[in-house]
Amino acid sequence: MTLAQVQKLESKLLLATYDRYPVLLRKGRGVYVYDDRGRRYLDMLSGIGVNSLGYSHPAITKTIARQSKLLVHTSNLFYHEYQGLLAAALTKLSGMDRAFFTNSGAEAWEGALKLARAYAKSKTNNSNGKGPKFRILALENAFHGRTFGALATTHKEKYRAPFDPGLPGVHFVKFDDVADLERSFDDSVCAIGFEFVQGEGGVRPLSKAFVETAQRLARKHDALLIADEIQSGLGRTGRWFAYQHYGIQPDLVTIAKPIAGGLPLGALLVSEKVAQCIHPGMHGTTFGGGPLGCAVALQILKTMQQEKMLSHIQKTGSYFIDALDQLQGRHSSIREVRGLGLMIGMELESADLAKTVHKQMLERGIILNRTDETVIRFLPPYIIKKQHVDTVVRELDRVLSHAQVATPAVVQGRTK
Ligand SMILES: Cc1ncc(COP(=O)(O)O)c(C=O)c1O
Repeated sequence: MTLAQVQKLESKLLLATYDRYPVLLRKGRGVYVYDDRGRRYLDMLSGIGVNSLGYSHPAITKTIARQSKLLVHTSNLFYHEYQGLLAAALTKLSGMDRAFFTNSGAEAWEGALKLARAYAKSKTNNSNGKGPKFRILALENAFHGRTFGALATTHKEKYRAPFDPGLPGVHFVKFDDVADLERSFDDSVCAIGFEFVQGEGGVRPLSKAFVETAQRLARKHDALLIADEIQSGLGRTGRWFAYQHYGIQPDLVTIAKPIAGGLPLGALLVSEKVAQCIHPGMHGTTFGGGPLGCAVALQILKTMQQEKMLSHIQKTGSYFIDALDQLQGRHSSIREVRGLGLMIGMELESADLAKTVHKQMLERGIILNRTDETVIRFLPPYIIKKQHVDTVVRELDRVLSHAQVATPAVVQGRTK
């Protein structure tokens, strides 16, 4: 089929939820994807933060082929060997105690919210005289997904307003504002949940002061701390989890995107004290934790360890940020470069410029993403090399030079 044929069919038959780019993808290999005309694109977005080992990685394709001939699905009424093994690997890397497997990120986040409420109930029932404990704190600019609970904790009106009223009891704290956090916390809070580096919100890392205050207040008020690591987790920031940069240990952690090489899998990791409040029948899923996804996830973790991927991410990420800092010195239209590891944002002076850059880079065969209006987001496959970074920065330089008049070099600080 041609692009025009696919577009015609979809426009008639699919819900109009996506504003797709006019590109028909056929295959991927390494850091590249290819369209129907054989044109090659350097994918600096990994699908959307998913294809961490790139496309058609032999470790993944072999595991899919082998496992698909054995067992793709079995219900969660039976055992298969990979859930336990994957839980062992993930709890070891995260410092958490137990896992629950899901189909997606939003579903993992829903599970975290449910457990936060269940944990609070189990405590309130046992302690006399305490008032209701059900409020959930989230952050302004947060993104946690599209299902009802996840949506209620997602800040932007454009996502939530069409579906109001949402889940009661959610309060948004100003991003990285310690004073507002202190004001918002009391004994009625059962959980605070956030991304340590906001992704959709414009690649914004939280400060250590904010995170440490959140942990202190959560402990003081017997509330749970939930880390949304769906985008930032599993190596993306140069550590296994973004919270490990901050030296804290959450009570619940959600992961998904890169976990199974593009197969739909997510996970909720919990501490033992939280795990104690869940009993058979309280929560479950049909597809989550199937043998195919879990076998692939185990292989991905093994490959990342064998190939010393974290150190590669740290080195390539620093190289990338340095190169973008230098680019900022040549283009005053770049307002800020920020990020951790290979989760990087470049904030431009206007949404129009960001749109132009995004479009022209695609025309030049480089896939990027624009988020929070003015931010160009990079979530490249972990396997990218310096030469790919050089290509991207060279093309950005050209696009920015034509899109506006370059001004003398002024290098500004960046958020770390
Ligand atoms: C931080 C974060 N949380 C949750 C989600 C939702 O995940 P999913 O799209 O798999 O439901 C996303 C997706 O972009 C995300 O980036």
